[in-house]
Parts: sequence; C-alpha cells; structure tokens
Amino acid sequence: MTNPTENKIYLPSQEVIDQANIKEYEELYKFSIENREQFWANQADYLSWYKKWDKVLDDSNPPFYKWFPGAQTNIVHNAIDRHQHTEVRNKLALIWEGEPGDVRSFSYHALNREVCQFANILKSMGVKRADVVTIYMPQIPEQIFAMLACAKIGAIHSVVYGGFSHEALADRINDANSRVVITADGGYRRGKVVEMKSVVNKAMELSPTMEICITVKRTNVDVYMENGRDYWYHDLVALPIAASKCDTEVMEADDTLFLLYTSGSTGRPKAMIHTHAGYSVYTSTTHRMVFDIKPDDRYWCAADPGWITGHSYIVYGPLMNGATIIMYEGAPTYPYPDRWWKMVERYGINILYTSPTAIRGLMRFGDSWPNRNDLSSLRLLGSVGEPINPEAWRWYHEVIGNSKCPIMDTWWQTETGGFMITPLPVTPLKPGSGTKAFFGNEIAVVDDDGKEVGANEEGTLVIKSPWPGMTAGIFKDPERYLDIYWSKYKKQGWYLTGDSAKRDEDGYFWIIGRTDDVIKVSGYRLGSAEIESVMISHPAIAESAAVALPHPIKGNCIHIFAILRNGYEASLEMEHDLINHVVTHMGPIAKPEAITIVDQLPKTRSGKIMRRVLKARALGLPEGDLSTLEE
Ligand code: PRX
Repeated sequence: MTNPTENKIYLPSQEVIDQANIKEYEELYKFSIENREQFWANQADYLSWYKKWDKVLDDSNPPFYKWFPGAQTNIVHNAIDRHQHTEVRNKLALIWEGEPGDVRSFSYHALNREVCQFANILKSMGVKRADVVTIYMPQIPEQIFAMLACAKIGAIHSVVYGGFSHEALADRINDANSRVVITADGGYRRGKVVEMKSVVNKAMELSPTMEICITVKRTNVDVYMENGRDYWYHDLVALPIAASKCDTEVMEADDTLFLLYTSGSTGRPKAMIHTHAGYSVYTSTTHRMVFDIKPDDRYWCAADPGWITGHSYIVYGPLMNGATIIMYEGAPTYPYPDRWWKMVERYGINILYTSPTAIRGLMRFGDSWPNRNDLSSLRLLGSVGEPINPEAWRWYHEVIGNSKCPIMDTWWQTETGGFMITPLPVTPLKPGSGTKAFFGNEIAVVDDDGKEVGANEEGTLVIKSPWPGMTAGIFKDPERYLDIYWSKYKKQGWYLTGDSAKRDEDGYFWIIGRTDDVIKVSGYRLGSAEIESVMISHPAIAESAAVALPHPIKGNCIHIFAILRNGYEASLEMEHDLINHVVTHMGPIAKPEAITIVDQLPKTRSGKIMRRVLKARALGLPEGDLSTLEE
C-alpha cells in the first residue's frame, strides 16, 4: 500500500510554521540523541512529581530499562489533580456525544469529582494497590472515569475492547487474576443496543477469580444481576461511600499503571505492562509536540479507549496536557455518513486523529457529506494503526483538511506506549510516510545480520535505543518478552518491531506491514494463532490457517484456509457456520471475510504452515521460494 515513488512533497504553510510550538526538527533531534537523558529530563519537568527521580535512566539490566527510578508520581496527579489548582480546573476536560444524540460534558473539576467517587467505590469493594481491575465497556464517559479511578488508587486496569467475545474476555480476566470487572448494560452502535453485561455474565462463569461486577446503566436493556456479585453503578454512587474526595496514591516510578492485551505471532494474547512514570512522560510529550497542543484546543482522537491509541491519546496524554477531549459512542455513519463532520462543526474541533480504515470508510460516500459541514476549525489531522494509502491521504488532506492541515501519520505500537515515527506539524510530508523518528529514538531498517539496508530497500524495522514509553514487559512472562522482542538482535540490544519497512533517500520511513502472523484488520490487531485455535474448536475442523488479504476499506481482511475432518463436506452453509463460530468465540472484530476448504495446507518440512504461500495463491501471485516446502 505504501508507495515510495509517491514523491509529491507537501510543505507546511507559513501559517502552520508561525503557530508551531516546535519550528525545527533536525537540531532538536540531534540534541535528543546526543543528550537523551537530558532531553527526557527536560520533558519530565513539564509534569508535577511527588518526588523527583534519582536518575533519568537505569540501563543496568537491558532490556528491562527503568525510567526515572527513585521518582514518585501518579499519572492521575498529572492528568487531573494538578489542574485543580490552575485555570484548567474550569475548562472542559471531556465533551461526550452518545450515538442517539445525548451529550454530556465535564470540566476538569467535574472530572475530578467523578473519578474520586469511582475510586472510593472501588476501594469500598476492597480493590487495593496492584490489584487488576478489568474494564469491558462501551465508549461512554464512565469508561474513562473507571480507568482513571483505578490508576488513582494504584490499581492496575486491564481494558478489554468491547468487540471481543465472552471467551476472549474470560481469557484476559483469568490471565490477569482479576476479581473485579466494570461494565455497562450495553452501548449504542448503528442504532441498536450492543449488549455488554450479558457477555460479562457469560465470561464470569468461566472466570474462577471473578467476584464483583459493577455495571453502568446506559441502555436500559434487561440484564441479569446476581445478589452479592452484581452492583449497579448508580446505586453505589448514591451511597456515602462514594465521597467526592479521594487521595491519589503515591506510586513509585515503575509501578504498573495498566495491562493491555495484544496479539502476537504465536500463542495467546499477551498482557503488555505500562508503568506510571515513563509512560506519563512519553505520552504527554509526544501528544504535546506532535499535535502542537494549544490551551484552547478541542482535540478528538476517534479511537476506542479499549486499544492503546485510546489509552495514550484519548485519555492519558491529552488530559496530562489539559486539553479538551471529544468522545463519541457510536458508528461514524449513523444516522448518516456525516456524523463525524457534524461533530467537527458542532464542537469546533481543531485536531482529528483517526485510522486509515475510518478515512477510507467515509471517503467512499463522496465529498458532499463533508462539504455540507463547516470543517474550518480543523488545524491538524492524524492517522494511526496501519499504512495509509496515498489516495486516502490526499482525500483526508484536501477534502477534510481543506489542503491546509498537515497529517500526522504516527507509527507506533501497544508495546511502544506512544508515537515512535511521526512528523511534526512543520515536517514536509509525503503521503503514506510517517517521516522520521520522534525525538530521542534511533530507528533503523536492517537486514537479518543487523546491517542497515540501502535506500528504498525493504528490511526489518528495529528500535536501537530505549525510550520512556516502552513497555516494562509481558505480565508474568519476562522470558516471552525477551524472546519475542529482544532475541533476534540480541547482540546489538535492539528492539524488534515485527514490521518491515523501507527508508527513502531523504531518510523517510515507509512502513510496509507486519512480518509475523499478526493480522491488522481495520487497524485492529489480531493473531493468526488465536483465530486458528478458535477454528479448531469446531467439530468439523481438522486444521486451519488464517492469513491477511488486502481489503479496500479495512486494509486487510481475514481469510481462512481449513481442512475438514472425515465425514464433513464443504458447502456454503458450512462456510457460514464456521464464520459464525469465529464471531461467537472470538468476537465480531475477528469475522473472517471468507473460509476456503482445502485438502492440504502448504507446510515446511518441520511442519510450519507457510501462510505466505497461501496468501500468494489466494492473490494469484508468484509463490516465491518453495525450497522448504514439504512434498
Ligand atoms: O504494523 C504496525 C501498525 O500497527 C502495529 C501496532 O499495532 P497496535 O499495537 O495495535 O497499535 C496500533 C496503534 C498504535 C504496528 O506494528 N501501525 C501502527 N501505526 C501505523 C502502522 N502501520 C503503518 N503506519 C502507521 N502509522
């Protein structure tokens, strides 16, 4: 999808340059590399600390880097508490719009009250420092309050995206030994109620550790509530326990803030750990610099808080910067394809950050939908999650941004916590390229031996230096962390991203895609192994392989090749049944586009499925090197 030959360069306008907080990249980048610790100490000084660090970086035990050791903080101290003593207190923290059209807004003062009340409720339920609380919610304000309430009392949140099934939810609850789950009865999507509490109920049956469920009433849909286990949030918040003052817990720099499950090449999803200090510094700095945040900005990251983009750039980064955030509950096309554009006009949104899938999905309805709304408040645009094709980039730039808003194409991952490759507003842009490394980061495209490849040659994307937003590892599994990310370039001590990329003659990065068996569908990250293990749980399936095939809107879609057990026959019905099976057991986001029944799967002599060959066959492309193919 990326195309290094796309060489029209979009220069920033004088207006963009005039108002940019950072006017020059190269010099500051050089400084940040030569004085990495000083650079990060300077950024950390934007935040407030209970106790400052003894050292910026402890690199005595790589790759388990410790950032700001000795410091004491809490991300909520910076996201909420410190704003209570400044003019930010009366500013809007959140404007939320429900899909049916209801609107709620909260000042920083009101946000503090909501979060304190929620925090006190959690405490009254026995939630303590370092306990894991699972959050499975629609996009409603309480989702954000719940996350912040956990962080405030030193508990660890584990947000599970609402598009996952009860089994996927139960796996994550069990892996984290979570005893409390926060949910809602349901949420609205495309004019319908999507039930959530009923999914949690089923998950709780599979979760021996689960004791308490707190449910926010959003839709009035009927739900089953069990005495002694289930509590309505509105009942709890009416009790004296839900006082509107609550002290924020003092956390050590490397105390865990949250776990977020993400898919890898093999096995079950892994819980990536992010910590209070390093993550606070990294997300607030990247958000402030890349989105050039001004005091009056209205900033909308249209992701779901259930993914890392939502954690870092809906909730934590923007709130630490005292921005006004926008959140929307439902589908971009409901009731008409200009819902988003109406919201941009209604709230005077200045910055819009979304995914290429969303852009392509709205682009197909044509220009008249955006054109009938006043989008002139927009100053900056952003893209994340997958490579953006130049056509979608140009539409976003010209039609949505009126050719005046630079597009911040930010490359990063759940593991990196924040932007790693990204333009700044003043960076000359090439559609489809994330341009250059963010400050402090040394990033390269290398071959298997670690040698940098030539200009425009494809190679492996690696990160050569530590950064404050980096994950602290995989929950309960440091060995797996070392193995997946740090073993390939162990000698050099580099982080393996799992992506392949090119770098052009101007040093711009062009991300090509995953080199492992991670599938990016609509920017959502899923693993072939998880999908295949759901397939095999169907009685008709002997073996299967899930691959990513290109899709005009979603970027990629899931295509499964499957071998039937004896006694079963391929039919259209069977295909539908199998598709439903995957949706039921993994969730609607994993819905396969097609399932092809085959007699054999191409394998290496050591028995590994050659997904690359399946993909090539499906696309009618050359199958490449088949020397390792089993006869
Ligand atoms: O393949 C890259 C792709 O998304 C992967 C990370 O997925 P996840 O952990 O879910 O985080 C997504 C949101 C940060 C990467 O390995 N990716 C992310 N951003 C971009 C991208 N590919 C191309 N361009 C991007 N801007």
